[in-house]
Amino acid sequence: QKPVTTDTAKAVPTLPDAQTVTAVTHWTDHLFSFRVTRPATMRFRSGEFVMIGLMGEPHPETGKVKPLLRAYSIASPAWDDELEFYSIKVQDGPLTSRLQHIKVGDEIILRPKPVGTLVHDALLPGKRIWFFATGTGFAPFASLLREPETYEKFDEVIVTHTCRNAAELDYSRKLIDDLLADEMMQELIGPENLAKIRYYPTTTREQSPKMGRITTLLQDGTVFRDLGIEGINVETDRAMVCGSIGLNTDIKAVLEGFGLEEGANSDPKHYVVEKAFVG
Ligand code: A2P
Repeated sequence: QKPVTTDTAKAVPTLPDAQTVTAVTHWTDHLFSFRVTRPATMRFRSGEFVMIGLMGEPHPETGKVKPLLRAYSIASPAWDDELEFYSIKVQDGPLTSRLQHIKVGDEIILRPKPVGTLVHDALLPGKRIWFFATGTGFAPFASLLREPETYEKFDEVIVTHTCRNAAELDYSRKLIDDLLADEMMQELIGPENLAKIRYYPTTTREQSPKMGRITTLLQDGTVFRDLGIEGINVETDRAMVCGSIGLNTDIKAVLEGFGLEEGANSDPKHYVVEKAFVG
């Protein structure tokens, strides 16, 4: 007998590499974060990024639909059974104009091929690590701050986050507050390790306790005075940078001024850089 086939399976459209949204948080009119299921076989190193997105609009002539994908840093740590992302909302952005409306239960596309340079393997051993972020460039550090390896490798973890307005710092502030208050994290990472974190938020266009671009605050020594440290030293200090092209270019010059050299997966050195992707 011939097997009976029906079209039921075809009637339910499934995305390629579909993952299901499990949580969405809107931080400001321009920023949101969300969590999705993680493919059972997907491995990654904390700090890496993947391509995610939605199906695009049908082509006006052929009617064909193609996935619309962008690179996103994974904001959750490698041990988490879900994946977290932190995104801007661009009203006329091809992807984020639509992605900002996702709800729990919706599906997104996730290509499970993580890559990136903001990984511990790309840095030489040191004593102090600096995470320099602007805007959504904080995402890979949200992963690395929840990664036990960060604290195994370094005695001090300095996290700078520069945004235009104070509200844009809410995601990083809450992430660090929660990290310090969470019993599971205390157990996983250890209170003595979490005590290594020093958070240094700054704003550039709205009054806040610390104002100015991080590059300026490094160059004029304000950061070092505020944190009570002598400066950046090639023997002890390592850095990871994630922000706009402008920030990345300018901070590279500052770090190289202190004698640090840029590393890569295949050639670990003193600092690594990745641009904050969706912008
Ligand atoms: P500023 O307000 O002085 O431009 P954006 O929202 O444009 O991505 O910027 C995020 C933050 O990064 C802002 O506070 C912005 O400061 C800062 N920023 C932008 N370009 C640079 C740069 N070249 N060096 C340091 N900080 C920068």
